[in-house]
Amino acid sequence: MKTQYYTAASLDGFIATLDDSLAWLFPLADINATSYPEFIKHVGALAMGSATYAWIVRHVVKLGSTTPGAWPYHQPAWVFSRRELPRLAGADIRFVQGDVRPIHAHMRAAAQGKNLWLVGGGGLVGQFYDAGLLDELIIQIGSVTLGAGKPLLPRQITSPSLRLVSVQHYGPGLAELRYEVPGRA
Ligand SMILES: NC(=O)c1ccc[n+]([C@@H]2O[C@H](COP(=O)([O-])OP(=O)(O)OC[C@H]3O[C@@H](n4cnc5c(N)ncnc54)[C@H](OP(=O)(O)O)[C@@H]3O)[C@@H](O)[C@H]2O)c1
Repeated sequence: MKTQYYTAASLDGFIATLDDSLAWLFPLADINATSYPEFIKHVGALAMGSATYAWIVRHVVKLGSTTPGAWPYHQPAWVFSRRELPRLAGADIRFVQGDVRPIHAHMRAAAQGKNLWLVGGGGLVGQFYDAGLLDELIIQIGSVTLGAGKPLLPRQITSPSLRLVSVQHYGPGLAELRYEVPGRA
């Protein structure tokens, strides 16, 4: 079981624009032609912050529209927020706040030996890193720059550095870098 940060970022290190747009990302590659379908098979639980949840509610579920979609994950999900967020009927979502360590323990118990996916954003993943709970980063670097935006991982990790374990190329749009966090491999 690994705790993994799997995400896509711009070349200059942002996972979304400042107004939470991902419109720059989807033209870069067909998600089904990337590592995602294999990755998600091994995920037993996932966690995200409220901005990421809000993006999914707005763009995937389309809550309040005449043709709402389904919550896209069958794994149990933990959503971090200090606010009251819209709830989705039928989705296995636990709304939590505060220290990530007890939440990580609950995720482990629920995942039944599968991996834990930290969906984002970077500040939340940084809290798992700070607690010594992040094992791997799988980052798809898009062939775009945004100039500003939501940061990939707002932490200084220098010595020891992350350990680059693989580089994969998905057409002209994406380069996937996999890193292990030292001491967690
Ligand atoms: N490029 C990609 O593949 C990718 C992947 C994932 C996400 N994204 C996008 O990137 C953006 C990420 O936004 P973001 O950087 O603002 O991060 P975020 O983690 O999605 O949301 C941040 C919010 O999470 C809540 N939070 C974080 N830690 C908490 C804690 N310990 N306890 C309680 N609440 C906590 C707070 O919510 P409250 O203010 O509600 O209290 C905080 O304001 C979104 O637009 C998302 O759609 C992109």
